[in-house]
Amino acid sequence: MIATAKQNLEVSITGLGVKVPDRVVTNDELSQYVDTSDEWIIERTGIRERRIAAPEEALSDLALPAARDALAQAGLEGKDIDLIIVATVTPDMAFPSTAALVADAIGATEAAAYDLSAGCTGFMYALAQGYGMLAGGLSQRTLVIGGDVLSKILDWTDRSTVVLFGDGAGAVILEAAPEKGFLGFELGADGAGGVHLWLPGSGSRRFDEPEKYVKMNGREVFKFATRVLVQSAEDLLAKCQVSIDDVDLYVPHQANVRIIDHATRKLGVPSERVVINVDRYGNTSSGSIPLALADAAADGRLRAGALVLMTGMGAGLTWGSALMRWTLAGVPQ
Ligand code: ACO
Repeated sequence: MIATAKQNLEVSITGLGVKVPDRVVTNDELSQYVDTSDEWIIERTGIRERRIAAPEEALSDLALPAARDALAQAGLEGKDIDLIIVATVTPDMAFPSTAALVADAIGATEAAAYDLSAGCTGFMYALAQGYGMLAGGLSQRTLVIGGDVLSKILDWTDRSTVVLFGDGAGAVILEAAPEKGFLGFELGADGAGGVHLWLPGSGSRRFDEPEKYVKMNGREVFKFATRVLVQSAEDLLAKCQVSIDDVDLYVPHQANVRIIDHATRKLGVPSERVVINVDRYGNTSSGSIPLALADAAADGRLRAGALVLMTGMGAGLTWGSALMRWTLAGVPQ
């Protein structure tokens, strides 16, 4: 799916909030649980540490503070929101949806609320859905949350996955805006590659023999990721008739610094325009892009007027890009 934003409709992000768990887990700590080392993890992934949720912490415990901060920055209250989409593969539970729990907690009594599953690409899918609901006139103010607590579905004896991931969430408010925000979206999925990154016992297929931990073919996912990060971005830029030279900020999914470096080189984005925080958070799945946006706002690179290219990729296998003119001034709380 690829399209430019409607000509006469200006939809943008008017609030941003993020939340990560307090607990920092370093590579050295991980090497106490599995046969790995700080040196290997840094060299192969660029990750130095990640945040890991407490045993009692679930997705909504991260999503809620992020949502509250996004609402505050937009100058809104929960009751003003009429749609909540939570992109995640680790909801508090299969049902009720985490979106419904968030709606209740923030007092969004008039809101439709549902969760969306698109692996690490979830936040990009949810942004596009939110845009579509606003463009179609069904929603006036949408709260989009991307977040995961992947630490709960990792096999903590499997060094091939446990070193890569972390927990975190981010939230944005989408509203009609005086200036154009979103310029276009490109989204895709390839179910044939789904077996390379999956949670086989999590649904109705293998109900009697639950395998409840993530399984991953790292090399296949690596090849897929390096390909789609570049392809999706190039397709969307061409569709929107925008040159990569005009992009002020490139915000790729934070999976592995080698994947990001590859995409950056191929696309020709100067390094000062690339947001990287995988070193501090690992791969937070659907939380990754909003966390990166918040960091770029904090370091002053995400300013009103900046042309921002975001691309996610992950389980499904899925990928997705959004191109937008950032219209929000200031730093998230
Ligand atoms: N510590 C130490 N050694 C390790 C570890 C580890 N954590 N993991 C693997 N190794 C070993 C392997 O056993 C192998 O040893 P061998 O040569 O004796 O066989 C060696 O290191 C090299 O392994 P490779 O798999 O070839 O390492 P590679 O350079 O491909 O890096 C990695 C592995 C980091 C997983 C990489 O393939 C990758 O990043 N893939 C993409 C993963 C990803 O991004 N997944 C998330 C997608 S988004 C989502 O939806 C969740």
